[in-house]
Amino acid sequence: MSEPILTLSGVHADIDQYHILHGVDLQVPRGELTVLLGRNGAGKSTTMRTIMGLTRLRRGEVRFNGESIGGLPTPEIARRGIAFVPENMGIFALLSVRENMELAANSGPIDESRLEWIFRLFPPLKRFWNRSAGNLSGGQKQMLAIARAIIEPRELLLVDEPTKGLAPAIISDLVGAFEELKAQQATILLVEQNFNFSRRLGKSVAVMDDGRIVYTGQMADLAEDDDLQKELLGLSLGAHA
Ligand SMILES: Nc1ncnc2c1ncn2[C@@H]1O[C@H](COP(=O)(O)OP(=O)(O)O)[C@@H](O)[C@H]1O
Ligand SMILES: [Mg+2]
Repeated sequence: MSEPILTLSGVHADIDQYHILHGVDLQVPRGELTVLLGRNGAGKSTTMRTIMGLTRLRRGEVRFNGESIGGLPTPEIARRGIAFVPENMGIFALLSVRENMELAANSGPIDESRLEWIFRLFPPLKRFWNRSAGNLSGGQKQMLAIARAIIEPRELLLVDEPTKGLAPAIISDLVGAFEELKAQQATILLVEQNFNFSRRLGKSVAVMDDGRIVYTGQMADLAEDDDLQKELLGLSLGAHA
């Protein structure tokens, strides 16, 4: 097997005086979708923010493409090839879809062929190109947030809880969007609490609790094992959507 594109080893991180991550070990293989699951407050968002250099790495190592990136400034981490869609998506509701995309393409005008590729991935963005982003459905807003993150070529896409607050019908649209990305062999780390959504997409899975990884394996194995799901995720999680 080739070297994982991203490896976290013994990662510790603090928010203010609180010690949040307690030695996170995580690998993201190339060309696959890896799911990071865990209950609310487990440390999933902090893990993503630490990868991006938005939360300071206190101890441990983050390696991307064979190089240590821990401690680098966030724009440099992005430039090395990591795209990040945070939980709140960071889109501008009052601006049009087009304006949102233009602002994201910070190295100049949008590359036309890349935009055509994005329209094929997410057709609603083409349909609503001149509409305010605030008028899109929740699923379409997620598509826009992902499209913004990948308007420049990136090797790894981090997406934090895209299904948060979405109705079940809209969640199915998002499954389609992620399946399109997977069909392109995109490398994705998807943070989720919604097991029924992420089980349809993930190849590998890691489960976090209390700032540590408590399980890693293949999603197909976890999806088949009800007892293990209950143990790792609790009943309420399995009952989602
Ligand atoms: N700004 C903050 N100040 C203090 N504690 C925080 C802050 N943000 C997150 N935390 C705590 O860090 C832990 C992990 O949070 P987070 O990474 O957001 O979890 P998750 O994304 O898995 O829900 C939680 O216990 C949360 O209460
Ligand atoms: Mg979170």
